[in-house]
Amino acid sequence: MDNFLKDVLRGLQSSPKYLESKYFYDKKGDELFQKIMSSEEYYLTNCELEILSEQKAKIADSVSEEEDKLDVIEFGAGDATKSIYLLKELCERNTIDNYFPIDISKNIIGMLNTNIPNEIPGLKIHGLHGEYFDMLTEANRISKRKKLVLFLGANIGNFKFDAMPAFCKKLRRLLSKGDMVLIGFDLKKDPKKILAAYDDSEDFTSQFNLNLLIRINNELGANFDLNNFEHYATYDPDSGACKSYLVSMKEQNVCINGSTINFKKDETIFMEISHKYSVEQIDTIAVQCGFTPGEHFFDTKKYFVDVIWQCE
Ligand code: AVI
Repeated sequence: MDNFLKDVLRGLQSSPKYLESKYFYDKKGDELFQKIMSSEEYYLTNCELEILSEQKAKIADSVSEEEDKLDVIEFGAGDATKSIYLLKELCERNTIDNYFPIDISKNIIGMLNTNIPNEIPGLKIHGLHGEYFDMLTEANRISKRKKLVLFLGANIGNFKFDAMPAFCKKLRRLLSKGDMVLIGFDLKKDPKKILAAYDDSEDFTSQFNLNLLIRINNELGANFDLNNFEHYATYDPDSGACKSYLVSMKEQNVCINGSTINFKKDETIFMEISHKYSVEQIDTIAVQCGFTPGEHFFDTKKYFVDVIWQCE
């Protein structure tokens, strides 16, 4: 059975029901995520853009060494809008050799392989299309240099709090002494500000969540009626968990590829977690996972931080 179908059925036959957020990103999902990022309320992208554009020199200072060039690997590179500031800076200093953007979207990797050489002449790019750790292993095979892994965009927040350290430990195991990581975390802050970012006034986040039901209808022949589900976001300032759900507005049955899923009125489908951290938590997790916490780069509002973790 196709993985998408298997994962959807597993999630919707569980109690409570859930869907995996990695499936948000079909073509329409990518477009809606772009709209979320340019919405009034979604502050994360602008904060991190400010950090990379304004502090690229400081970041480059802390990752570059005169005698040794770096290879930069980027998890979930997307269109590289943010990382391009740092890549250009490292190129001007002649301290970068290769750039390995990794993305699950073949489309994106094709686009980067074409665009980056125009934007940064001289930088050697090797786009890798696939899962993060498989592609990191591939980059390790090719690269003979000290590595800097970029994991920007608060993507780390989409791991559940308990699962996140396991991811970081695995990352550490695949790196060597002297390598570094630059990770973007969204910080705990005014709970109203956080909640608004996941419940925007133009309803892009709601459409983004509902789009996964459309994808299931289109690709798996299901019959979700979108009028019967509503988006609901919550933020718990104690734990830092910001969660999105779709709520069934009535008792209903949905057919997916021969299986019938029953929804009670007000029953929820858990769609996504976007975890928020404190600086102390981030430093503690770094140590727990075998890294040494290095410099912290904040935006002016201190909403977001990009941190350097060293492998010592
Ligand atoms: C991709 N990720 C970091 C986004 C976030 O903020 O968790 C996904 C997102 N979901 C709704 N809005 C944004």
